[in-house]
Amino acid sequence: MAQSGALFYGDNLDVMRRHVPDESVDLVYLDPPFNSNANYNVLFAEQDGSRSAAQVKAFGDTWRWDKAAAVAFEEVVEAGGETSKAMQAFRKLIGPSNMLAYLSMMAPRLVELRRVLKPEGSIYLHCDPTASHYLKLLMDSVFGGDRFLNEVIWFYKTGGASKRYWSRKHDSILFYSKTGKWRFSAQKEKSYLMHKYGFSNVKIEEDEGGAFTWVNARDVWDIPALRGNQPETLGYPTQKPVALLKRIIEGSCPEDGVVLDPFCGCGTTIDAAQRLGRRWIGIDITHLATNLIKNRLLDKFGEVDFSVVGEPTTLTDAKQLAGEDRYQFQSWALGLVGARTADQRKGPDEGVDGRLYFHEKAGGKTREVVISVKSGTTGVGHVRELRGVVEREEAELGLLITLRKPTPKMRAEAATAGYYRSGSEGAGAWGKHPRLQILTVAELLDGRRIDMPPLMGTLKFPAAPPKRRIHLDKPLFNNLPDVPNLDELLSIS
Ligand SMILES: C[S@@+](CC[C@H](N)C(=O)[O-])C[C@H]1O[C@@H](n2cnc3c(N)ncnc32)[C@H](O)[C@@H]1O
Repeated sequence: MAQSGALFYGDNLDVMRRHVPDESVDLVYLDPPFNSNANYNVLFAEQDGSRSAAQVKAFGDTWRWDKAAAVAFEEVVEAGGETSKAMQAFRKLIGPSNMLAYLSMMAPRLVELRRVLKPEGSIYLHCDPTASHYLKLLMDSVFGGDRFLNEVIWFYKTGGASKRYWSRKHDSILFYSKTGKWRFSAQKEKSYLMHKYGFSNVKIEEDEGGAFTWVNARDVWDIPALRGNQPETLGYPTQKPVALLKRIIEGSCPEDGVVLDPFCGCGTTIDAAQRLGRRWIGIDITHLATNLIKNRLLDKFGEVDFSVVGEPTTLTDAKQLAGEDRYQFQSWALGLVGARTADQRKGPDEGVDGRLYFHEKAGGKTREVVISVKSGTTGVGHVRELRGVVEREEAELGLLITLRKPTPKMRAEAATAGYYRSGSEGAGAWGKHPRLQILTVAELLDGRRIDMPPLMGTLKFPAAPPKRRIHLDKPLFNNLPDVPNLDELLSIS
């Protein structure tokens, strides 16, 4: 059976250069982080207010004018062509600034995106007024000014209002084609009428908003932004609504086409593509994002056949990841048991790195497993601490995931917590599950899973990563074979 998609963990520039063939993608949507980065502080902030290593790595460093930015700038300039000229002009205009660093990061990625697009393909670059004017010039240099199709204005009504200037309530989405022959399917939208009289030749319908007609969607889109209480909201800063991506995909990706999102965040594009039966490629540089996406797909669609590339598959890989970045390690390790990262925005969640929920019967009580992940030295104190957290949170079970082998004392301490007995709601046979469990990363990679009642909903444990998954050594993607599943994904037309 054909795969639905491929999810890559890594830097999109490397991933595209190594894995995405020329002219293989029908539609690109990208929503690169910029400026709104302040939002990420909520997610990644340390309790003392400083930024975590993960945030600095994924967001901060990228657009500071530093040595790496200067090298990126020089590479684009040396490659020649219109983009080189544009970057030299930017340098004269804005100097060696953070904005230039950002544009130097974007330029080679846009060049790659153009390369992977099919001749009839198109690209949507989502940005905001902070950088849209520079990005439009950059896009002109990469795609050609004559390939510009629209600046879509997406406006929304969330957030506060300014008293000093007009409230900033829109994003810009720059829409370009690769060649003069592109695929586009006009989409209809509702246009509400002030009064319904005087229309003789159009069909008037009514819904809760009043009378309306269907008109071809224009370039100003009134699509509600996500609010905290919506079921779609995952708590990922900058998450976009699925409705926005559905419109883009339906408008610009044929039914048998492939969509690529190189900054895929919590996977809105992937979700929309999956719903619409399109194949997809998602890339993100954080395990927090790739973990969320895996959960999102399982939650929404049950079993989805997709490949994951670039995640650790051996203990050596896992140790390397832990050494590089313990936050990334934590997100990845939680993904091994299908758990979500605890939502740091809700305040300090002391001792809880992730959570899993389960029900013993449909419609029954929501029960909880709290999870703590340790990448360094562990001791009996951590087991006691977790026991305290299980009691405080009134959770049914506690799981300690360790990179190192636990000591016999730790195992003995965990055993003193006794058992959680499932089946009290009369849904099935009684089961005995150790209340405190310790699993090592090596055991998880070998396919061992937490001892708990089976999950009732669509959320399932991910299978142990198959051996064929590819580990990325530093520098990323050196000497890697091609990804067989991506070939399969792209070969079906
Ligand atoms: C603005 S968010 C995208 C949000 C997404 N549209 C959604 O709805 O969830 C940008 C994402 O780009 C990722 N990112 C930043 N630099 C990257 C890079 N060089 N390669 C791949 N992903 C990157 C970040 O981890 C972040 O998840």
